[in-house]
Amino acid sequence: MQAAEWDDRYRDAELVWSAGPNMFVEQHCRDLPVGRAIDLAAGEGRNAIWLAERGWDATAVDYSSVAIDKVRQIAERRGVAITSEVADLSVYEPTPGGYDLVVVAYLQLVDDELTPILRKAAAAVSPGGRLVLVSHDLTNIEHGYGGPQHPSVLTTPDQVVAAIGDALTVDVAEVAERHVQTDDGRKTALDTLVVAHRST
Ligand SMILES: C[S@@+](CC[C@H](N)C(=O)[O-])C[C@H]1O[C@@H](n2cnc3c(N)ncnc32)[C@H](O)[C@@H]1O
Repeated sequence: MQAAEWDDRYRDAELVWSAGPNMFVEQHCRDLPVGRAIDLAAGEGRNAIWLAERGWDATAVDYSSVAIDKVRQIAERRGVAITSEVADLSVYEPTPGGYDLVVVAYLQLVDDELTPILRKAAAAVSPGGRLVLVSHDLTNIEHGYGGPQHPSVLTTPDQVVAAIGDALTVDVAEVAERHVQTDDGRKTALDTLVVAHRST
């Protein structure tokens, strides 16, 4: 999808994603000491705003201007300060070593586009800092619920680990189950989850 298509999607709904953070972002970030965080492909900012509410100096970046407008409105409504930027991650350069936490959640791109962005995401992690990546796993098509049905934009833990290179130490690289409540009952989605840190 291009930025204009994401704009339409965000325009058509009050909230496309949940108001609260992704469960894995919450699980892996709630006990971290606060610092500077950047959420790449932030969408409506559910993760960045949650981090800001917990005291992080949070930045949300997305190429959908409609999404970033929503980030600004939601943050204002919830009374938190957040830095937000409309930018295409294929050209955007997060400050190398500039962030104690880099979040990438459900950035759905083909490998050729995703890999250079993940390299920059890894480079942006400060010494002692962390990268938390979650995306729809390739196995979700056959064995999981929802998500994109094009294998080219799905990931595997190995693919993400290869993309971030050896700049970071990988702490978690797995296919993780995410339970989703639907009208037909509880379903299980399968996500790629990678958590990595830069040594001090
Ligand atoms: C599935 S949404 C996930 C949003 C958010 N991370 C979340 O989990 O709620 C994917 C987001 O990636 C953004 N995106 C896709 N390609 C991008 C690019 N090249 N540069 C910046 N944002 C991009 C879209 O605009 C969209 O908001």
